[in-house]
Amino acid sequence: MELSEISDEKILENLTQVGKLSDGITIITGAGVSKASGLNTFRGKGGYYQNHSAEELASRSGFMNNPKLVWQWYRDRMRAVFAAKPNQTHYAIVELENMGLLNKIITQNVDGLHHMAGNSSDKIIEMHGRITESHCFQNCGYRIEWDHAPEHIPVECKCGALQRPSVVWFGESLDPEKIEQAEEAILTTKLLIVIGTSGVVYPVAIFPKYAINNNIPVYEFNTEKTILSDYVTYTFIGPAEITFPKFVKLLAENIK
Ligand code: OAD
Ligand code: ZN
Repeated sequence: MELSEISDEKILENLTQVGKLSDGITIITGAGVSKASGLNTFRGKGGYYQNHSAEELASRSGFMNNPKLVWQWYRDRMRAVFAAKPNQTHYAIVELENMGLLNKIITQNVDGLHHMAGNSSDKIIEMHGRITESHCFQNCGYRIEWDHAPEHIPVECKCGALQRPSVVWFGESLDPEKIEQAEEAILTTKLLIVIGTSGVVYPVAIFPKYAINNNIPVYEFNTEKTILSDYVTYTFIGPAEITFPKFVKLLAENIK
């Protein structure tokens, strides 16, 4: 593992190779990518899980125990998402797609900002769902697509039960189709780039390792070292909204 400067000669040399990777770059994103859009991260200083545990806020038992607290958290986050705009990291990923280099974006984010930035829907795999959607906690089938945050919480369903946010909670399985798509993206990629994630939540936590074991290089962009940093090919330390556009710009210059 190396902590690297994007302008290192070795990286520049690599960029020429990377530029030949038609549809060959897969991107994994986490909450750090949306930080510059005003959305909070989960772990670490100032993160959501500092005051309440993940189980309290994002699990079935947490919801059954205190649906109002859970809905309060999601309502606050929905408000923030409706006010948010994509930032330079999102736009640099759009640039990668425009350059014909993007395979897939595997995102843990539920904010829809990759879509809003302009990446094609068929390039984006939203592993954890969408925060602006909800469905019946008792599975009556009634769903809501929100265009503003709900006023009354906890949100009631038509059937008399409660609605729940359409995001994946701890202890729940991810959509098997999405897992399959993501695994295929990892297996077919020539370079994996992991941005703004602590790398502790399955399955994203294992994808970088999986790639390395298959001789696929992995570049990480984060403000600090993570548990992935020990084995990835390079870690670029710094705010992704600064370092990642710089990387894409150098890439564009090196493939002209
Ligand atoms: P975390 O909050 O665990 O990690 C955010 C990461 O972003 C940390 O490693 C930060 O160092 C990094 N970071 C912060 N600001 C950054 C910036 N400007 N540029 C680059 N990196 C930055 O968030 P995730 O890894 O996304 O799941 O969390 C994974 C999942 O855990 C989430 O999807 C969520 C949560 O529980 C569900 O809600 C199902
Ligand atoms: Zn219902």
